[in-house]
Amino acid sequence: MKTHKIALIPGDGIGVDVTDAAMEVLAATGVSLEPVRFDWSCETYLQTGRMMPEDGIDTLRAFDAIFLGAVGWPATVPDSVSLHGLLLPIRKAFDQYANIRPHRLLPGVEGPLKASGFDILCIRENTEGEYSGAGGRVHQGRDNEVAVESAIFTRKGVERILRFGFDQARARRGHLTSVTKSNAQKYSMVFWDEVTREIAAEYPDVTVSHMHIDAMAAKMVMAPQDLDVIVASNLFGDILTDLGAAIQGGLGFAASANICPDLSGPSMFEPVHGSAPDIAGKNIANPIAAIWSAAMMLDHLGESDAAKAVLAAIEAVTAQGIGIRPGSHGTAAITAAIVKELQ
Ligand code: IPM
Ligand code: MN
Repeated sequence: MKTHKIALIPGDGIGVDVTDAAMEVLAATGVSLEPVRFDWSCETYLQTGRMMPEDGIDTLRAFDAIFLGAVGWPATVPDSVSLHGLLLPIRKAFDQYANIRPHRLLPGVEGPLKASGFDILCIRENTEGEYSGAGGRVHQGRDNEVAVESAIFTRKGVERILRFGFDQARARRGHLTSVTKSNAQKYSMVFWDEVTREIAAEYPDVTVSHMHIDAMAAKMVMAPQDLDVIVASNLFGDILTDLGAAIQGGLGFAASANICPDLSGPSMFEPVHGSAPDIAGKNIANPIAAIWSAAMMLDHLGESDAAKAVLAAIEAVTAQGIGIRPGSHGTAAITAAIVKELQ
C-alpha cells in the first residue's frame, strides 16, 4: 500500500475547524496518509512577516498533495497580503491551472431554487487571466492617480484549460459551455471564443455552447439543469462558483480541487469558502465542503474506492438530514456521522 505525503495547511479561521474534521474522515478511510502540518497563516505573518517561509514552495514540492483550509484574517492582515502570500502563489507555482468545482445538491439539501436536478462541473482557469498580477499604480493618493491591472490570456493557457474541460465533458454528459464576455471585451475574450472553436474540432462528440458571463449568471439560477461542464476564465470562474455554491445550498457544500494535470507538481484541495472569522472555532462551520474536497484529493491520489466511499458517506449523512441547514448540527456532529458511515 502506497503512503501519500500530504502537506496540511489549515490556514486561518474555520480553515482549522474544517481541515481537522476532514483529517478525521481521511483517517477513517484506511488509506495510508502521512500528513505534515504547516501553521502558515495570518498569525504566522504577524510573527514572522511572511505567510509562508521563503522556501515554502520548495518545501511543498516534496508532497503528493496539499490540503488547505482557508486563508485570511482581514482584521489584522489585509486580504491582498495574505492571499498573495500563500494561496495564490501555490496555485501558480505548481501550475495548478485547472480548478474543478462541482455544483449539485446533496441528498436532503434544499437549495434556494425550485430546480433540484442539476449537476454542474465548473472548470475555472486558475493561473492567469484576470489574476495574472500584471499591473501597477502611480501617483498614489494624488488626483491624477492611475491603477492598471491587465488580464493576460496566453494561447497555451487557454488551450490547455479548454482541453481539460472537453475531457471532463467527454467523461460526463458530453456538453461544454464556454463562458466569456466577447461582446464587450474584444481582444482576450474574442481570442478565447476562437480557441474554443479550434479545440471543439478535436472533440466532435462533445456539444458546445458559448455564453456570456452575464447570461450564464441568469442561466445558473433559471435553468441550471441544462448545464453540464462550464469552462471559464479565472475571475469569471471565481464568481460563478460562488453562485454555484449558493444554488447547491451554500458555501458549506462547495468543494474544490486545484489540479496540476501533468503532475509536475502537487495539486491542492480546499473548500471554496473562506476563513469566516465570525464563526471560527465555534463548532458551527459545515465541514462537508472540506470533506468533499478531501474525497477529490483521494481520487487524484489514485484512491478512487476510498474517494467514492467518502462521498457516499457524505450523501448518506445529508440524506438523514444531518448538516443540511446552517446551525442544525455542529462541525463535530457532522464529522462523527460521516466517520460512522465509513466504518
Ligand atoms: C476562491 C477564493 C479565492 C479566489 C480568493 C480568496 C483569493 O475566492 O478560491 O474562490 O478568488 O480564487
Ligand atoms: Mn471565490
